[in-house]
Formats: sequence, structure tokens, C-alpha cells
Amino acid sequence: MTFTRGLSSPIQSVAAPETSMPGASGAAQPLHPGTWGLTRAEGGLCLEGRSLASLAQRWGSPLFVVHGARLAENVRRFQQTPEGRLRGAEIFYSYKTNPIPAVLQRLSQLGVGAEVVSPYELWLAQRLGVASDRIIYNGPGKTPSVARTVVQSDLLLTHLNHREEIALVAAAAAELGKRPRVGMRVATSDSWSGKFGIPIAGGQALAAYEEAMMHPSLRVVGLHAHRGVAIEDAQTLERFVQEVLAFCDALHDRLGLDVEMLDLGGSLAVPTVLPLNDSPVPLAERVQQRLSIERYLALLIGRVEAHFRRAGRPAPRIFLEPGRAMTGNTQLLLCQVSSLNAAGAGPAHAILDAGENIAHILHREYHEIFHVERWGESPSQTYSLDGPTCSPMDRLRTEIELPRLQVGDTLAVMDAGAYLVSFSNSFCFPQPGIVILDEGRATLARRAETFEDMIDRDLAANDASR
Ligand SMILES: Cc1ncc(COP(=O)(O)O)c(C=O)c1O
Repeated sequence: MTFTRGLSSPIQSVAAPETSMPGASGAAQPLHPGTWGLTRAEGGLCLEGRSLASLAQRWGSPLFVVHGARLAENVRRFQQTPEGRLRGAEIFYSYKTNPIPAVLQRLSQLGVGAEVVSPYELWLAQRLGVASDRIIYNGPGKTPSVARTVVQSDLLLTHLNHREEIALVAAAAAELGKRPRVGMRVATSDSWSGKFGIPIAGGQALAAYEEAMMHPSLRVVGLHAHRGVAIEDAQTLERFVQEVLAFCDALHDRLGLDVEMLDLGGSLAVPTVLPLNDSPVPLAERVQQRLSIERYLALLIGRVEAHFRRAGRPAPRIFLEPGRAMTGNTQLLLCQVSSLNAAGAGPAHAILDAGENIAHILHREYHEIFHVERWGESPSQTYSLDGPTCSPMDRLRTEIELPRLQVGDTLAVMDAGAYLVSFSNSFCFPQPGIVILDEGRATLARRAETFEDMIDRDLAANDASR
């Protein structure tokens, strides 16, 4: 059995053994640590020869560890031109997914643009040196002041989320004497909608384009569609892309508009993260069925190129805004067992130093979790992995079989590079530090939050201590 199909990169193949660990409970049969390039040595699991337990000792627990080489590898995979295609997609990382400045800076240095949705994210991108023509502004909450900031910034593309934003941005542009490039965010029949975008159905999106094109201060060149719900397989991707392409035809036929910048958003699933709850199909099988980055690009670009070739019109530039598929599997979270409570019925409770305050998304997603020091030993007990806060909901896993745990043992939560850091909060505990590992060398990217940091903005508390 192999867990590396669809993950074909030199990194994954470094040390991806051929077996899974036996004896897990639930629908999932755990994946092998080699899937993420982890190896086993005397001190337990290692990444690039560096013991994970020693990282937690050196930098403190909990701790995020970014795998620099895997990040670079994911960028390379997204940036490649699929075989037989004229060109690849232009990649803009969705800042909200994992907003660690050191990671964002690396992405920018590797040629990845920025997709931002707030004045803060725009400021951050500019502060990190991302050129204006490598930034796309998105998001549903533009105020008049945001519209002015965005227009003034001369960005590559600004997406208008809904009809009210058309007049808003047009007015800001007219006032500032600018003519920004804009696109409309449209909602397909199976994408997030409601506050996001304008449904294609019922002619609503077409009417919005018609309105936008009447404003001389707007250059209507783009189209944006982000599915939101994860794209896990080829059929889902095809349906989504075909609906958007049919809408491009409608724009051409009805309004004479040829989209120049086609932005198909993010949503590609991380192969090794699964929704909790659903299917009885074993984990390894489901992971193998997932779309790889390569297959996703080949299908998507192939469909777009073929469509416009058939239509006899020039194909638009293709923009993508990957979030989770870019960084999800490039990061892990180390945490430690603070305490064990075996009283009562059911599994023993291992109370960890990280819970929903840091890894809230594990309420919804299955992430692999390894016992760092004793991975590979036969699991001997069933545990509930609980977080440290006083919330009964604070639990990373209801049931997991692990080698016997002791206080101080380290666990590694895999695929922690999407929507963990962004949703972390300081509920009862400070937030963790972040290190980046490059060729076995760890560099601090963000120091752990201190108690002083936690009250730094509270003037009264600070004054009292003076
Ligand atoms: C507009 C937009 N683009 C891209 C993304 C990234 O999505 P994902 O992490 O699913 O790739 C998001 C996330 O919600 C988004 O809202």
C-alpha cells in the first residue's frame, strides 16, 4: 500500500515507507508519517533529520513547524505548465489561509502573488514588498474608504463581490481619476453563495456585468469564481469550470465582453485532510482518489484552452488563488500532553496544551495525529485528545488509539498549514511560536505570545503596572 500517489514530489519520496500503522480506531486507518517526509530515529519522529521532540523542547510547546522545502515544492507544482498546454496558471496565494509573514514573504520571493480581502491584508502584502500588479483584492465587505484605498493602490485586479460594490468602486475611481481593472465575483450552482458573489442563475450575474460596463471609470476585464466547498475530485472540478466557461460565452454573446482575466479561486482539497463524519471508505483509499495539484491544473487549464479554441476566441489569462492546497501540508503543529484523566467511562482523556484555541478546524476535519516519541509501537490505549480550555467542546479527537501516553509526550498534528494560525485565538492561553525548518535548521518565524503581549493593547492594565 502506498500513500504517495498524487503527491509525487521528490520530498514525498524521500522517505515514504510502504505501510500504514495498524490498529487505529474509527473509519480511519492512519497514514504513514513518511507521507509528509517524516522519518523515525532513536528520539522519535524526525523531519530532515531533526527530531520533532527536540524542536518542542528548544522552542516550547505548542509550536508550529513550517517545512520550507515542501512549501517551495508546492509552489513549483502550482507554477508548472501542464504537458501539452500553452501556459500554466498565475498563482495568487490566499493570504487568509495561513497569514505568517515569513511564509507569505517566501511565497512572494518564489513568484506567487497575493490574494487579499481586507485593508490589513493589502497593507501586509505591500509591507512585504509584493508589487501592486501582483495583488488581487477580493472580499465581500468593501466600504467607501476601502474602495478608495483599493483604487489608489493600482492593483492587478479588484473583484466586486456584489452589485452595490459596482457604484461604490466606480465612484471612488472617478473621484481619484483612476480606471481600475475589475471583475465580478459570480456564484455557480454549487459554490458558496449568499453573501459571496452574484448567482449566475437567473441572469443576475449578467445584469451585474451590464451595469459595471456602463461605468466609464471601470475597466471590466475579469471574472471571479471561488467554489468554497472543497474540490476533491475531477467531476466536481469539471462541473464548476464548465459552468464558468458557459458564463464566459454568455458575456461574449450577450454583452460583447471577452474576459481577459479568469480567476477560478481556490478550493482544491489537501489530499490528506478529510471531512469528519462521512464515508466508510478507508482513509488511504480516499487519499489516493484525491485530485493532485498536477491533475487539477491539467484538467482546469485543458478545459479552458479547449473551450476557447473551439469558440475561436483568445483564451484569457488564468488566475488561481489556492489556500489550503498550497500550504496545508507544509506545516505541522507540535503539542504536548499536560495531564491525563482516566476517570469515568469511555476513553482516557489526554489533556493537551493545544486545543480549539489553536486547531479549531479539527472539529470539522480529520487530520493525522502522530505520537512523536513512540510512533510505530503498538497502540495500547484509546484516548480522547482534549484541549486545555474550559470548554467541553475543546477536543481535537474524540477517539484515537495511541501507544500509552505519559505527561510530557509530544504529538504532531499534521496538515496544520491552513486555517489554524488564522483562526487561533488567545482564549485562556497565549498563542504558539512558529519555526521554519530548512535542511534541518530551524529558524524562529514568530515568537510565542507572552502574557504581556496578551494585555499589550489594554491601556488600563498597562497603566496599572506603571
Ligand atoms: C476568494 C477566495 N479565494 C481563495 C480562497 C482559498 O481557498 P482554499 O483554502 O479553499 O483554497 C478563499 C478562502 O476562503 C477565498 O475566499
